Amino acid sequence: MKFLKLLLLFIFVQVNGQQGGMWIPSLLNGMNESEMKKLGMKISAEDIYSINHSSMKDAVPQFDGGCTAEVISDKGLILTNHHCGFDNIQSHSTVEHDYLTNGFWAYKMEEELPNKDLYVTFIIRIEDVTSKVLEGTTTLTSEAEKQKKIQENISILNKTLPKETWQENSIRPFFDGNQYLLFVIENYEDVRLVGAPPSSIGKFGSDTDNWVWPRHTGDFSLFRIYADKNNRPAKYSKDNVPYKPKHFFPISIKGIKENDFTMVMGFPGRTQEYLPAVAVEQIVNTLNPAKIEVRDAALKVQDGFMRKDQAIKIQYASKYASVANYWKKWIGESKGLKKSNAVEVKQKFETDFQQKVIKAGKEAAYGNLLRDFEKNYAEIKDYALARDLFTEVALRNTEILQNGYRLYQLEQILKTKGEQAFTDRKNNLSNGIVDFYKDYNVNVDKNVFEQLIAIYAKRLPSQFLPNELKNLNASQLTTDVYNNSKLTNLEDFRSLLEGDSKTVIEKINADKGYQILKAMANAHTKNVVPKYDELNLKNSATQRTYMKAILELSPKSARIFPDANSTLRVTYGKVKGYSPNDAVNYEPITYLEGVMEKYVPGDYEFDVPQKLIDLYNTKNYGNYGVKGLDRAELKMPVNFIATNHTTGGNSGSPALDAKGNLIGLNFDRVWEGTMSDIYYSPEICRNIMVDIRYVLFIIDKFAGAENLIKEMKIIPN
Ligand code: ARG
Ligand code: ASP
Repeated sequence: MKFLKLLLLFIFVQVNGQQGGMWIPSLLNGMNESEMKKLGMKISAEDIYSINHSSMKDAVPQFDGGCTAEVISDKGLILTNHHCGFDNIQSHSTVEHDYLTNGFWAYKMEEELPNKDLYVTFIIRIEDVTSKVLEGTTTLTSEAEKQKKIQENISILNKTLPKETWQENSIRPFFDGNQYLLFVIENYEDVRLVGAPPSSIGKFGSDTDNWVWPRHTGDFSLFRIYADKNNRPAKYSKDNVPYKPKHFFPISIKGIKENDFTMVMGFPGRTQEYLPAVAVEQIVNTLNPAKIEVRDAALKVQDGFMRKDQAIKIQYASKYASVANYWKKWIGESKGLKKSNAVEVKQKFETDFQQKVIKAGKEAAYGNLLRDFEKNYAEIKDYALARDLFTEVALRNTEILQNGYRLYQLEQILKTKGEQAFTDRKNNLSNGIVDFYKDYNVNVDKNVFEQLIAIYAKRLPSQFLPNELKNLNASQLTTDVYNNSKLTNLEDFRSLLEGDSKTVIEKINADKGYQILKAMANAHTKNVVPKYDELNLKNSATQRTYMKAILELSPKSARIFPDANSTLRVTYGKVKGYSPNDAVNYEPITYLEGVMEKYVPGDYEFDVPQKLIDLYNTKNYGNYGVKGLDRAELKMPVNFIATNHTTGGNSGSPALDAKGNLIGLNFDRVWEGTMSDIYYSPEICRNIMVDIRYVLFIIDKFAGAENLIKEMKIIPN
């Protein structure tokens, strides 16, 4: 009986415990490869990353520095999310050609639309350069000196390590600076828009459904990479030709079911999986609540105006969506960290860690790390809170203060860089600010200011508060600022910038709005920044040693992966539902039926295009539909979830099956599991993907873009 229990526990740990992780594609041999095969993978690590021949990594570029894409034809066709291509789709949209609302499809290559500044980045090879980067640093005792030397080494190595003329070297730290890897990369800069569904498909569910399962979003768009005649990177030219990839993904329309193996390759941005318990506690109890409170207030004000006024609705839609995205994420993250007892789990880990240190006789090197963390985090708490509040209130959510900060930087430039730099920046600002005021409404901003300045005065540790905000009467200050400041409209703002540097500085310093921002920024720069930087540097050094100790003291078989840092990673798992709450069980796959259930005619989040309704009513799903469970009714799969460990930056990542065929497109995570950036729990962390059959169905049956389907390599059902 006891043996059986142990066996069951062992199996549970094998199946459920050992998941998560964002792995370096060049280092999958060994533990990862055998784990992946155990989970069902039919290919080898060499098929994913090879130095000798083309491999899957050659089909996964980073998209525009922040998202991921995948190559799906031998003519450089790539797939990414609608929300990743959004800015480019928007920039081609006009009232006559509203591609955001109606979608866009190129039925011939000549119709594809070039995009200024859009680029994709391929990884050519990855090499360990740790010893080269750390050369000459071991004797340095000051952390600041050490970091300076490392930066110098990196910048020399980036220039001198071998590469072709059209390539770049990019060295990145891993494991908090215990390892450095070189990425030889190629940036392709001629990337054209090929297709995008209407927002009512590509952004279906919008903010209400964002971070939420069950989901029904067709979050995809198509682009094409162009190259010069030698297939090398080139600036846009009409003479460029479609890029010939080293590898592109075949597409499987066989379909998926619960427990199937899946893997996701992409460029996850940032995680903090190895923070000590004290740091996680600070995020849950102090930092997240402050950031959420600020955004909560700003969003409520904006929403009130947007609901009453269509013009404001349009002006603030994109700003609202981007502020709401992380607001919602932090709420889910805090909830998840609490529910999964992440702090206790970390504390338990730390108790074990301390024992291992003693057992290994490493007390001199590692015995004080946890105590250092305790001390550092207690000391940094107020500074970290002040920093987050300043960022959220002044730099992110109050528009008059954001604008004031631009003038603040202008004034700093005059002091540090002189007249010419000042004039250049001033002219840039005067021209560039037009776009800002196009989407600015003074009443919205005024109401946001009143709320946020009150939160700032109340929540900021009092020792950091500038005199101007002591004993604050928020409504009086708001009236005073908005009656007198020239930062509230384009003409007045520009008038401030007229004249020579002396005149401009005098004028802006006489402005009530600027005075408030300047008081806040000065107090912040003087009272918060230096001490925060000092403590943060200390914390980074402690974190690096802690990471080193974890690596050193863990068994060889331990699943330790480096935190995300916007480099190419592989994560794998299984298609799986989950149970977010008592008595609630979620299925892993959604269908077009669910789109129709959510349909609200004319609604900005849940409208459905008539054409899609017609296709649904006639079940015109081509080869892409599946029989329902009872095999009676044809159904169109839309989204599915799995246990892949992903984060921001993984948007647009390919979801692959056991043979390395494309089965979906990653675009989000489930709300209850957004804590995976800090603590991954296989019980509840799921990534959300668009089923590739929905993508093909929309391209083929909805858009009629058979030209694109013909280019792809679709493995028949
Ligand atoms: N939550 C997803 C990701 O972080 C999608 C964001 C875009 N969608 C939105 N409704 N804002 O970034
Ligand atoms: N939606 C995210 C992105 O844009 C993905 C995530 O955070 O899961 O990269």
